[in-house]
Amino acid sequence: MSLEDVLTWVERGSAEAELARQIDFDRLPAHVAIIMDGNGRWAAQRSLPRVQGHRAGIDSVRDVVEASARLGVQVLTLYAFSVENWKRPPTEVATLMALLKRYLRSELRMLLDNNIRFKVVGREHELAPDVRDELVFAARQTELNTGMQFNIALNYGGRAEVVDAARRAIEAGVHADELDEERFAGFLYTAGQPDPDLLIRTSGEMRVSNFLLWQIAYAEIWVTETLWPDFRRQHLFDAVLAYQKRERRYGGIARPVVAG
Ligand code: FPP
Repeated sequence: MSLEDVLTWVERGSAEAELARQIDFDRLPAHVAIIMDGNGRWAAQRSLPRVQGHRAGIDSVRDVVEASARLGVQVLTLYAFSVENWKRPPTEVATLMALLKRYLRSELRMLLDNNIRFKVVGREHELAPDVRDELVFAARQTELNTGMQFNIALNYGGRAEVVDAARRAIEAGVHADELDEERFAGFLYTAGQPDPDLLIRTSGEMRVSNFLLWQIAYAEIWVTETLWPDFRRQHLFDAVLAYQKRERRYGGIARPVVAG
């Protein structure tokens, strides 16, 4: 993608257009991962039930998925539901699952129009059959797309993923001598995908919350006070610009941010 492409879909003279002009399209983060946080607080600030925050968060998901694909991000991973989130009240869990199903149904056209390939990362087999059916349907419908890989982390835990990968490696008969980091990464849910270059967290919390623990080893972290339901493409552009100002060292000497 290029600035000219982006200027065809952002409003002329808008704050987004101004930010887009500053982005270096040769140095985009290949993989952006987002911890969408603050839905409950957004609702509380408006004296609304928590689930209204999740509902409002869907508009942010829609905007950010489309903007990331059009910007030229190769992989976007959104943290929608962790293995720990089952501890929330059953009505909240049910609402999150219902929202996810509805989102996938209503956004399938947008995913196809934008050449986006969808996949779940997480313990998908533990989800209710109606939710799984919807996820499998969306994944199948988009599997031939060649543009952005869109991962939704669902029933996801970073430690659980590492355990699952170890189990898969054992089941595949991998011998201890043959196992190195590259081989192991091939058993993760994100096998074949670049690691996140940029990890965004909304609502100001400074935690990684068991998200992509293996993959974020060298990710640049960007935290914003903005609550997830208020997050839009201009915040994504802000994050990308901040990322492009970072000096990545990977434990060695300074090197500028390069495209993944
Ligand atoms: C954290 O806010 C957010 C979640 C646990 C769920 C995020 C889910 C969505 C935005 C909707 C479904 C997603 C997709 C991809 C369609 P919180 O409830 O922990 O907020 P708080 O910290 O303010 O209480």
